[in-house]
Amino acid sequence: MASHKVALLSSILIVSLFVTFTEARDIMVGGKNYSWKIPSSESDSLNKWAEASRFRVGDTLVWTYDPKKDSVLQVIKKDYETCNTSSPLVTYKDGNTKVKLDKSGPYYFISGADGHCEQGQKLITVVMSMRSHFMGISPAPSPVEFGGPAVAPTSTGGVNLRGSLGLIFGVLTGLILF
Ligand SMILES: *[C@@H]1O[C@H](CO)[C@@H](O)[C@H](O)[C@H]1NC(C)=O
Ligand SMILES: *[C@@H]1O[C@H](CO)[C@@H](O)[C@H](O)[C@H]1NC(C)=O
Repeated sequence: MASHKVALLSSILIVSLFVTFTEARDIMVGGKNYSWKIPSSESDSLNKWAEASRFRVGDTLVWTYDPKKDSVLQVIKKDYETCNTSSPLVTYKDGNTKVKLDKSGPYYFISGADGHCEQGQKLITVVMSMRSHFMGISPAPSPVEFGGPAVAPTSTGGVNLRGSLGLIFGVLTGLILF
């Protein structure tokens, strides 16, 4: 009986791992619209929000802001730390910016508006690599350590299919364990 319990628990664990790691999401930066702005306090900062969030390969970050007044710059770590806006990897200024997190590792973003980064309008997201391991796909290795991702419109259809396949696979694995 005990071994059945272990098998049952393992299959539940496997299924939930697949469900957890295969759902691609659109994540609104800051958790709500128009959060890309100078934080009113340290505790209100986007990095506080990011620390409490999980980012996975395949997720898409969404920023909303007034494109006349602000922009999103993806930069290397050094430029993030020094708020250097002069040579971003990618510049986004459409007011409704979507960045697909297509590989694991850290991503650095700062505001392109004058003086905003210095006042805390910056964001680090660290993307976990679990999904790619689980699904057996590795993102193409990039020669540039923090190279900007090619941004393509998100299509979640295929991902949902992958999620379902993952679920079925998880259930089958659970059955085999029995
Ligand atoms: C955010 O704002 C955009 C444009 O103003 C709007 O289309 C979208 O529905 C809003 N999203 C949410 C979650 O409020
Ligand atoms: C910002 O980065 C550019 C290009 O890497 C560099 O030439 C410039 O000196 C930097 N500015 C500061 C203030 O560090």
